[in-house]
Amino acid sequence: MHAFSCVEDYRLAARRRLTKLAFDYLEGGAEDGDALRRNRAAFGQWGFAPRVMIDTSQTSSRTTFWGRDAAAPMVVGPTGLNGLFWPRADELLARAAADAGLPFVLSTASTSLLEDVRAAVPEGELWLQLYVQQDRRIAESMMRRAREAGFRTLMLTVDTPVHGKRDHDTRNGFKLPLRFTPRLVADCVRHPHWSWQMLVGGAPQLRNIAKSVGERADLARHAAMLSRQMDLSMSWDDLAWVRRHWPGEVLVKGILTVEDARRAQTHGADGIIVSNHGGRQLGSTLAPVEALPMIVDALSAGGPAMSVFLDGGVRRGADVAKAVALGAKGVLLGRAPLYGVASRGAPGVAGVLALLLGELRTTMQLLGCTNVTDLTPQRLVPLPSLRA
Ligand code: GLV
Repeated sequence: MHAFSCVEDYRLAARRRLTKLAFDYLEGGAEDGDALRRNRAAFGQWGFAPRVMIDTSQTSSRTTFWGRDAAAPMVVGPTGLNGLFWPRADELLARAAADAGLPFVLSTASTSLLEDVRAAVPEGELWLQLYVQQDRRIAESMMRRAREAGFRTLMLTVDTPVHGKRDHDTRNGFKLPLRFTPRLVADCVRHPHWSWQMLVGGAPQLRNIAKSVGERADLARHAAMLSRQMDLSMSWDDLAWVRRHWPGEVLVKGILTVEDARRAQTHGADGIIVSNHGGRQLGSTLAPVEALPMIVDALSAGGPAMSVFLDGGVRRGADVAKAVALGAKGVLLGRAPLYGVASRGAPGVAGVLALLLGELRTTMQLLGCTNVTDLTPQRLVPLPSLRA
């Protein structure tokens, strides 16, 4: 097997192994993909301004999230339906994150039970991403279960009142439960390893939601339908409801404007994630890395301290360094670890995380930064566009 030198190598391997249906779901953005492409491209608008002749023999990327240690300002972020990429992918992602010294965020839309993920990483730092369905008892059950399983931090996703329009999924006829149309059967024939795994392990299901719905016998019959009915009435006042059910930190994920960042602050959030949901919801927005500086700037003007995270387009350790230099406490990794798990299972995720940690360290040393607190705006310069 050839060596995987960067995240892109894992992406190509994932593309070879997955059915088109699964790869498109992982890879695709909303509508014409403008937000998706911008997320990557925006990192390229910044260059590094290195300092030299600094002793970097003791360089460390370590940081803390609310006093808890992490190996780097990186978190393996929440992604739904991971079982579509590898059997028990949620457990594998959580294990690799814990081994690398990073938190793992389990999605409400996970294909493994949160209790099983905890059993796979008894010592791991686990966070829960929460979607809130119309029947609030489902989210309340999810929060209770996660609390009992020792999940520490809650990430309330707020940019998904409805699903973004994803043309590739419509074209591929992608719906749960999977329907074996002639198109999918032909896709499976071309991707035998994936198909064999799904045949042996069974098609992925939203087991985590199903368990919380099923805890109420009166709802069980409608489980699938209820799990898709998001609560469109959610508003900022509902943060108080979340707080009543969650003793740990509460983060709000899916903020792109200064106004909403301030709202999260005044409503007492412990942090926000500047995010456009990986370009999967609105078709065109600012890239999170473009929105980040103004949000950090506005929040620094006063009010309670709040951690600002970023996700979207992180494929290199250098991207992590740029986000931190622009004021992020850390970044969430979405597609990158998924390329790892989708290409080779457990060693794939471990490989991706090791690459990103190594790249971040190299970048820091080349920048003359021995500590993440040395990653400041002075280490970046906006790159003027070159004329061809
Ligand atoms: C779910 O959150 C998705 O983006 O597919």
